[in-house]
Amino acid sequence: MAYSSLTLLLLVFAGLLVVNAQAYASPKSKKCDSVNRGYQCDPSISHFWGQYSPYFSVPSEISADVPHGCSISFVQILSRHGARDPTASKTAQYNETVNEIHANVTSFKGAYAFLKTFEYTLGADQLSVFGQQAMINSGIKFYDRYKHLAEHVDPFVRTSGQERVVESAVNWTQGFYDAKGEKGHDLTPSVIIPEADGVNNTLNHVLCTAFEDGADSNIGDNAQGIWADIFVPPIQERLNKALPGANLTIDQTIDIMDLCPFETVANTQGKISEFCGLFSEDEWHQYGYYQTLGKYYGYGPGNPLGPTQGVGFVNELIARLTNSPINIQGSINATLDTNPATFPVDKKHKLFADFSHDNDMTGIFSALGLYNATRPLSNTTIETAQQAYGYSASWTVPFGARAYFEKLQCHAEKEELVRVIVNDRVQPLKQCGGDKLGRCTLDAFVKSLSFAKEGGHWASCFS
Ligand SMILES: *[C@@H]1O[C@H](CO)[C@@H](O)[C@H](O)[C@H]1NC(C)=O
Ligand SMILES: *[C@@H]1O[C@H](CO)[C@@H](O)[C@H](O)[C@H]1NC(C)=O
Ligand SMILES: *[C@@H]1O[C@H](CO)[C@@H](O)[C@H](O)[C@H]1NC(C)=O
Ligand SMILES: *[C@@H]1O[C@H](CO)[C@@H](O)[C@H](O)[C@H]1NC(C)=O
Ligand SMILES: *[C@@H]1O[C@H](CO)[C@@H](O)[C@H](O)[C@H]1NC(C)=O
Ligand SMILES: *[C@@H]1O[C@H](CO)[C@@H](O)[C@H](O)[C@H]1NC(C)=O
Ligand SMILES: *[C@@H]1O[C@H](CO)[C@@H](O)[C@H](O)[C@H]1NC(C)=O
Ligand SMILES: *[C@@H]1O[C@H](CO)[C@@H](O)[C@H](O)[C@H]1NC(C)=O
Repeated sequence: MAYSSLTLLLLVFAGLLVVNAQAYASPKSKKCDSVNRGYQCDPSISHFWGQYSPYFSVPSEISADVPHGCSISFVQILSRHGARDPTASKTAQYNETVNEIHANVTSFKGAYAFLKTFEYTLGADQLSVFGQQAMINSGIKFYDRYKHLAEHVDPFVRTSGQERVVESAVNWTQGFYDAKGEKGHDLTPSVIIPEADGVNNTLNHVLCTAFEDGADSNIGDNAQGIWADIFVPPIQERLNKALPGANLTIDQTIDIMDLCPFETVANTQGKISEFCGLFSEDEWHQYGYYQTLGKYYGYGPGNPLGPTQGVGFVNELIARLTNSPINIQGSINATLDTNPATFPVDKKHKLFADFSHDNDMTGIFSALGLYNATRPLSNTTIETAQQAYGYSASWTVPFGARAYFEKLQCHAEKEELVRVIVNDRVQPLKQCGGDKLGRCTLDAFVKSLSFAKEGGHWASCFS
């Protein structure tokens, strides 16, 4: 009896392993990664990697389904690029940390054994194949959700000019037309706005001198530093005990944590990296909060000039929603936005897709006031996304993040309504009197955006 229940246990255990292995093996597996729900592999940790989480469908108190009796008459998607290699400076830093571990550590045991022969092979800045696939999936999901419009209208696609962003736009467009059954459609974006010093680009910050180089540019790092000094030391101590000779610093300890998401998204299937298992679930939640603080105080409402970086895009959104000439503010390029070929606002254009970065999307969400209910985040006590009124880096700007700005025509209402959906989470839009489905009238929504209409604090950029 004892023998047979042990056998049964072993069989169940082996079965679980097989199920898990299969779940991670297939990018199309419904269980772990899918077009609709995004990345659901080990969600208790992978949804806490801040801006390095792969896109996942965020829980929403309000159903994201198109409300009964309404039809969508306009959609703007604002998307981050897909998962990528670390930036150039980070990739050099991670490699150096790994090199030091190899040079100095005298024994590798248990969960750390893989480090002995681990080879750092990540590149810099480019989308991974997994990231490309996620953008294709986003295009498919968009087409399916807005089919009723997308069958008849092509999206007007703009992208910021960095290679990974342009490629993300192309892969998204590829998914859109694949879903539409038009393989072979031209995938070239309508407008590519370069990223360079002095270029006015509403999808990439660079112009606002005080924000880029002034005291405000350190607030995010400072906030992260305060929290890192609290949550990292116990982790650092454990790693340094387990890896004799390593003597990792706080920053190097965070490097090792960063390698979990980056090694995961470098795998074509998004297979969870061995680095992830070196840390507990609680530690991943602390790490996620560290990334949240960086975005909130670096580019969001916690930075005096964060929301101002988003005012250009918000005015573009207003022009598109209301079919009105552009109100030129912030980083808008007047040449582009007064030309119907590069910035159409006529009623024929009902689908818009723009591609950008996490930091820029954080500024845009802030200029819209989407997280105005969130109180200034504590640098010393973790706050969950639920506690922070839906704000966290992984809920707002994961890899492949996407916000939908929808106009709805509903039977019960004469006026057009607006909804904003961030990674499938319907924003309550209390700032414009959102109803229980998160809907404001177009008029009330636009009225709520006085901050952006008046240019935010753009004047302070140059004083
Ligand atoms: C660790 O290794 C690096 C070389 O990668 C070396 O510069 C450093 O001095 C070593 N530290 C210790 C404590 O041995
Ligand atoms: C990592 O550093 C080593 C030693 O400097 C170098 O040979 C190697 O090319 C680097 N690898 C990557 C992927 O950067
Ligand atoms: C994504 O787009 C690039 C072109 O920019 C293409 O080379 C690549 O094959 C696409 N990815 C996939 C998975 O189809
Ligand atoms: C604005 O856009 C035009 C047309 O693409 C371009 O020639 C010009 O350099 C841009 N100006 C700025 C300041 O970005
Ligand atoms: C968190 O730290 C930043 C940077 O020092 C600071 O501006 C902010 O006020 C702090 N937040 C709180 C709630 O104290
Ligand atoms: C560990 O690194 C710290 C600096 O981060 C240094 O002061 C200390 O001497 C190092 N310890 C060893 C054993 O190398
Ligand atoms: C670019 O933005 C700056 C700062 O807002 C503005 O002064 C300038 O006129 C803009 N250039 C164009 C071409 O719109
Ligand atoms: C959000 O809060 C800021 C700062 O108080 C304010 O300027 C802005 O108008 C608010 N936005 C909305 C949409 O309520």
